[in-house]
Amino acid sequence: MINVIGLGYIGLPTALMLASHGAEVVGTDCNAALVDRLNAGRTTFKEKGLDELFEAALAGGIRFTTEYQRTDMYIVSVPTPYDKFSKKVDAGYVVAAVQELMKHCPRGATVVIESTVSPGTIDKYVRPAIEAGGFTPGVDIHLVHAPERIIPGNMVYELVHNNRTIGADSKEAGERVKACYASFCQGEIVVTDIRTAEMTKVVENTYRAVNIAFANELSRICRHDGMDVYEIIRICNMHPRVNILQPGPGVGGHCISVDPWFLVGDYPKLAKVIDESMKTNDSQPEFVLERIHEIMKAAGITDDRRVGLYGLTYKENVDDIRESPTLQLLELQQRHLARPLKTFDPYFTDRPIVENQVLSFDSFLEGLDMVVIMVGHEHIRQNWDRLRGKVIFDTRNICPLEGVHHL
Ligand SMILES: NC(=O)c1ccc[n+]([C@@H]2O[C@H](COP(=O)([O-])OP(=O)(O)OC[C@H]3O[C@@H](n4cnc5c(N)ncnc54)[C@H](O)[C@@H]3O)[C@@H](O)[C@H]2O)c1
Repeated sequence: MINVIGLGYIGLPTALMLASHGAEVVGTDCNAALVDRLNAGRTTFKEKGLDELFEAALAGGIRFTTEYQRTDMYIVSVPTPYDKFSKKVDAGYVVAAVQELMKHCPRGATVVIESTVSPGTIDKYVRPAIEAGGFTPGVDIHLVHAPERIIPGNMVYELVHNNRTIGADSKEAGERVKACYASFCQGEIVVTDIRTAEMTKVVENTYRAVNIAFANELSRICRHDGMDVYEIIRICNMHPRVNILQPGPGVGGHCISVDPWFLVGDYPKLAKVIDESMKTNDSQPEFVLERIHEIMKAAGITDDRRVGLYGLTYKENVDDIRESPTLQLLELQQRHLARPLKTFDPYFTDRPIVENQVLSFDSFLEGLDMVVIMVGHEHIRQNWDRLRGKVIFDTRNICPLEGVHHL
């Protein structure tokens, strides 16, 4: 039996995938409301293919509970935020989960940490927690790190098709866990040591963050001197060894905007490019706010009630708002004691989650002179006609209408 601890964006699809491929799975989460919802037969977030996977897992006998189980394999996928002051990983949730599972697990069990952690976290925090519980890692507990790479919006496909990394103390434990993931994963699964696995995951997200920061920085340089950043990137990318990403309104989500900070926190004197990149990405919403002001001025719009932000999530076609550029922008406004701009997101139409959010596209457009596209949801791509006649500031460079403003 596998006990998956933490049933959020990563733990739930992983548990469902395992259960729908023949494993006996119990999913445990400390959030009783979340467990109740799953037990009532409803998934907890919107994701392509998740409901079908949920049905298959139910047919495979998956159970959900708030209780930790006594079993020979645990997969821990609880949050790993960063400490805003030190920038270091906050391993508190992982340690709490490990401490709790120690009260239940038999000798010889395998504990897989799926949560993203900075290199050395398992040695520094997880091993001591296990030893304090009376176990010896490598002898009567087998520690494994299996970081996850899936992207919200395409999680179910990527769970099956991505390559994976497994870090383990021993080859046997690594191969055992590899066999477990191989029940559903068709990608290549590399087995390595724990610290290498920890580092690879953080490096992958850091690579993405640095490259996004480069594109964002180009958008500012080009704006400063009236150059077209998109045309410049398009031409540069015709070079056989250049592949520049697209600039955007900032970076959100719980990976790219978080994990690179772990390296800055742990290696402050060494991680210079990373530090600057993260600061660049974090200040991009401020650049967007300045552009809004500039465009309003140029268009003669003086009343900010006539300007609306489209999209609250951190990326298109998902309902995840964590660290989203729109929320960062609204927070900036509030910090300056300004009234938040009107917002709308087609993924949040039941009840408002931020001040001045409206729940229908019609009421969003009503009375607006200017629309700022923060997220490229499929919904807006089907509704360009509704924006005709308005001033459009498109931070994603997706709007096909004439006269659109860009970063
Ligand atoms: N979301 C992503 O796109 C993504 C991608 C790759 C890796 N990751 C990593 O995966 C890990 C999990 O992220 P997530 O997005 O699934 O987080 P999440 O916040 O969506 O889910 C975490 C769940 O863990 C539960 N939990 C917290 N402490 C617990 C405990 N002690 N016992 C039982 N349950 C507990 C919470 O109630 C929550 O439901 C993080 O380390 C994250 O960095 C996330």
